[in-house]
Amino acid sequence: MPIRPALSRRDAILILLGASIMHIFTIFFPHESAPPEILIDTPREQFLPDPPPPPPEVTRYHTRTTTLVQATTTTATVVAIPSAGPASASPLDLALEFPATTLIAHAPGWTLFKDLYMSNGTFFIVTDSKSEFPKIPLMASHPLTALNEPENIRQRMPTPYNMDFLTLAEAHQRWGDDVRNGKKNRVLSVAGNTVLVNEPRQFLRHYYHLVAELFFGVQAFWHGAFSAASTDIDRDYMLGPHPAPPPIDRVIFARSNADGWRDGPGFNAYFMRAAFPSTTIEVEDDWNDRVTITTSGDRAWHFPLLLLTDRSASHRGDVCGSQTQRIAAEAFVEMRRKNQLVGLRVGGWWEPVRSAVLRFAGAEVQLPDYSEQVVFDGDNAEGDPRLPMPAKIVITYISRQSAGQRKLTPESHDELVKALKDLQERKGDKWELNVVEAEKITKDEQLKIAARTTILLGVHGNGLTHLVMMQPTRISTVIEMFYPEGFAHDYQWTTRALGMKHFAVWNDTYRTEGRGEGKPQVNYPDPGFQGNFIPVHGPSIAKLIEDRVEGRVVLREFNFRKPEVATKTHGDSERQDRPESEGSHPILFPGTLIAAPLDFVDCRWAPHRSSGTAPMYPRRQLL
Ligand SMILES: *[C@@H]1O[C@H](CO)[C@@H](O)[C@H](O)[C@H]1NC(C)=O
Ligand SMILES: *[C@@H]1O[C@H](CO)[C@@H](O)[C@H](O)[C@H]1NC(C)=O
Repeated sequence: MPIRPALSRRDAILILLGASIMHIFTIFFPHESAPPEILIDTPREQFLPDPPPPPPEVTRYHTRTTTLVQATTTTATVVAIPSAGPASASPLDLALEFPATTLIAHAPGWTLFKDLYMSNGTFFIVTDSKSEFPKIPLMASHPLTALNEPENIRQRMPTPYNMDFLTLAEAHQRWGDDVRNGKKNRVLSVAGNTVLVNEPRQFLRHYYHLVAELFFGVQAFWHGAFSAASTDIDRDYMLGPHPAPPPIDRVIFARSNADGWRDGPGFNAYFMRAAFPSTTIEVEDDWNDRVTITTSGDRAWHFPLLLLTDRSASHRGDVCGSQTQRIAAEAFVEMRRKNQLVGLRVGGWWEPVRSAVLRFAGAEVQLPDYSEQVVFDGDNAEGDPRLPMPAKIVITYISRQSAGQRKLTPESHDELVKALKDLQERKGDKWELNVVEAEKITKDEQLKIAARTTILLGVHGNGLTHLVMMQPTRISTVIEMFYPEGFAHDYQWTTRALGMKHFAVWNDTYRTEGRGEGKPQVNYPDPGFQGNFIPVHGPSIAKLIEDRVEGRVVLREFNFRKPEVATKTHGDSERQDRPESEGSHPILFPGTLIAAPLDFVDCRWAPHRSSGTAPMYPRRQLL
């Protein structure tokens, strides 16, 4: 098996053995007072001073370490995690000192705090070392609807009413009392683990933005924060099992009403309940209750573990703000930089969510074994040989022809369907074609199809969000049709974050990362982009699909050597293998990629062994 969806029996026994030993160990040697053992491998390590030893009455985090032994020689230490929170209902009642806020992980717009406080609507970081925290505008914002105007951008900057610092003494002065004489503090713990979404409903009401952007980022960040760092290439291919991160007990959409996070077709609610069945969802009214009853400022809420997500703060970061416009990219890139994303090449970190939703939908999620795989007769340099081929090539065209906008011209649509049918008929029963109008089938049906899809095709739009439910195979691909010259990162970035390939199609040409001009610049040509007269040349798309499946679209990106020296690059002798025009593409080894924000797969390509024909520049014609 090139991919490891499950561990062998031997592994399972080893894990069980390891876990049992640890269990017995923890029974006899409980880590009662040990601080949670979170491996933090960042320059911000100094942000995490050991928390002051808690007074006996205060919160205790249970710490557990398990050792996962894989079939190979790899040994990954599973990071211990804080448990759900304080043991008693209001453990800070009698604390002599409140636990100081600590930072578990941070990227612009994504901040995972331990012991964060809120009073009168203000998040308080309680610390005596405030310089060790990121700048507040990279963590929080004044939560207004975002407009791309200077005045609005200025108004969204956080004020001290949005987030502020307090020293330990100030916090105690405000919210504490004379506990030695039987008086109680005025801090209530909100037990459990919280994700707080600090953005208005503006983007939440869309399937793409909620699922494939916000929760895609939540999963990358949450999963990454509680995974051990590892540069083991085998782990890059693991779909699971993973050490389970602590549960998300509640999600608070603090700036949105109950309607605001629910999209029209109802996918958001379906996703949230299926992916996080035990998670409580609170909205603005619930948050405002907590704000209103603390307006006096003399009492506060304590959140033992809270991930604060903030869209505007993400846009102040470089990865989101200037490169991708995806808030999830900040979370993903930070965790990748720390080598804390499990299954980087196969979306393994996302798999727990994907499989939960697909299980709920009743979809089949089995990966094919070798005996059933489609024979790959393309060049071996194409595609990642460590990924399986699918058992069947399933092409799914999500048609928008009955949607309100962004349609193909009727002739383009007809010609495309005909070309795809011809292709499927020519190839026989190892190929399957689905032409789907999402509005006309159930959600379960849509997800079941997505789970089986090898090549997902559609005009730029929400239907492509289903790509997050596709299985990673050697040739899994998203083909996105744009009005010629148009481009946006939404589906492109997301596809690639899951280790799949993305092609942007402009009528009869395509653009993709890693060859030729690479991916295009973001562009919304008006009025064509949103219009209903998008031209595509069906035979060109059918040809692209056939070439991609049969290994003739050579992306040359895989290089499995694991260099000792991360910064090593190819010598000039190897450079001559490549066409001149690619000279600007640095050939990097995996270790160097950590700093490369986006090209995390395509940068790893090695010179193609049998490059008979140089790619055509500047733009490759499909036919
Ligand atoms: C509570 O917050 C509001 C602004 O949101 C502010 O005007 C008010 O002064 C605050 N109250 C206290 C006691 O800080
Ligand atoms: C699309 O491509 C086809 C095939 O090359 C070409 O005949 C047609 O004119 C193109 N349409 C547009 C609008 O560019």
